[in-house]
Amino acid sequence: MEPFDLVVQNGTLVTAGETVRADIGIRGEQIAALGQGLRGRETLDAGGLLVLPGGVDPHVHLEMPAGAVRSSDDFVTGSIAAACGGTTTLLDFVEPEPGETLAQALQARRAQAEGRAVVDFGLHMTLTDTRPPALAEVEPLVAAGVSSFKVYTTYDGFRLDDAGLYAALEAVGQAGGLVMVHAENDVIVGQARRALLAAGRTGPQAHPLSRPAAAEGEAVERMLALAETAQAPVYIVHTSTRRGAEAIARARGRGQVAYGETCPQYLVLTEAEYARPGFEGAKFVCSPPLRSEADRVALWRALANGQLQSVGTDHCPFFYRGAKELGRELFTLIPGGIPGIEARLALLYTWGVRAGWISPGRWVELCSTAPARLFGLYPRKGSLLPGADADLVLFDPQRRVTLRQEMLHENVDYTPYEGLELHGYPVATLRRGQLLAREGEYVGPQGGGRFLACGRPQAA
Ligand code: URP
Ligand code: ZN
Ligand code: ZN
Repeated sequence: MEPFDLVVQNGTLVTAGETVRADIGIRGEQIAALGQGLRGRETLDAGGLLVLPGGVDPHVHLEMPAGAVRSSDDFVTGSIAAACGGTTTLLDFVEPEPGETLAQALQARRAQAEGRAVVDFGLHMTLTDTRPPALAEVEPLVAAGVSSFKVYTTYDGFRLDDAGLYAALEAVGQAGGLVMVHAENDVIVGQARRALLAAGRTGPQAHPLSRPAAAEGEAVERMLALAETAQAPVYIVHTSTRRGAEAIARARGRGQVAYGETCPQYLVLTEAEYARPGFEGAKFVCSPPLRSEADRVALWRALANGQLQSVGTDHCPFFYRGAKELGRELFTLIPGGIPGIEARLALLYTWGVRAGWISPGRWVELCSTAPARLFGLYPRKGSLLPGADADLVLFDPQRRVTLRQEMLHENVDYTPYEGLELHGYPVATLRRGQLLAREGEYVGPQGGGRFLACGRPQAA
């Protein structure tokens, strides 16, 4: 047989389904064969390493406007950070400006990413207007490869009322797409904020109190009821509480097509971070906020037993100096969001696999295969099947790393995971057969990431 262009030799292949010792033969940009003793014009030794399908991060906000600032990673820096951490596909959002059609907004967002992103990317469409002209665009967008639509139950300028949520669910469900929801009850948040400010609670410590678990619990339950009635599949983003996870599990138990995502910050950190001295707690301000230790443990249990299906980062970095600091006098002015695109695989390995919550196969499923399926990219992404894109991560399960902001490639002046000890880290990342990252450094070309047309959601 003709030698392959590249053979990844001697690795332990980990997929959602199985773990096997095999070589991977690559021709051009695709996996061509798995087997023993494959011959290649070039080889990459993966002895002692795990070889996984590239990570798929389903929830990323690059260069996202947020009032006076924008998230500090753009498509260049954010995608380089993703690659160095073992993520080869990211899914970001289109946020249409007032007066813009969804198609125009998609074109503008694609133009921001094309030629700049180094990993492949897909886009979700945010729906803030559910009047007929906007909803008439849903079907053509699904056909054009934007099959997921994000709605919000909170945030001025984004929030939909129940009628709007229902209309979005109906339109997207009928078009064969997937509705993603940021689920927090806006009235509970508004009321809690007012009470805290009236009591003179203006620091970051007040942030978690302003967005209690009940706000998530109510909004998740309501969204599930609306989605059930509208017969639309629904994906709850950044589930942060036991209440939210249990609501999703109950809906699934009733046979509803409902999926839940959580994020590393809710699996590794807790609300104790907000009690850091001075203004340091601002580094952890995201919505929903970090939660209790009991919630953290409950989320791991939910991932382990299949009640939650996906782990995205909700990567949305803001510099501490200059951006988070805008809320020094008032916690409600702290831009919401934290970085995490680079450390997802490693955090989940140490805190999930090493801690005994999940198997290596489940780790791959949560970080790669399930998001690929849910957003219609499988098996091209999220698998090691012949014909799939040769997006591979070589992961050293024995590598010990102390996480430091300076070693990461994210364009931000801190990491919420500073000083955490990791046992296991990616050592090489390939995107469609091309080496992008090696030993924690970006070694790939500029750009090269391609827009991915997402298909209809597949069950996960
Ligand atoms: O605080 C957060 N999570 N910011 C990013 C936008 C969102 O709500 O997902
Ligand atoms: Zn959100
Ligand atoms: Zn988000």
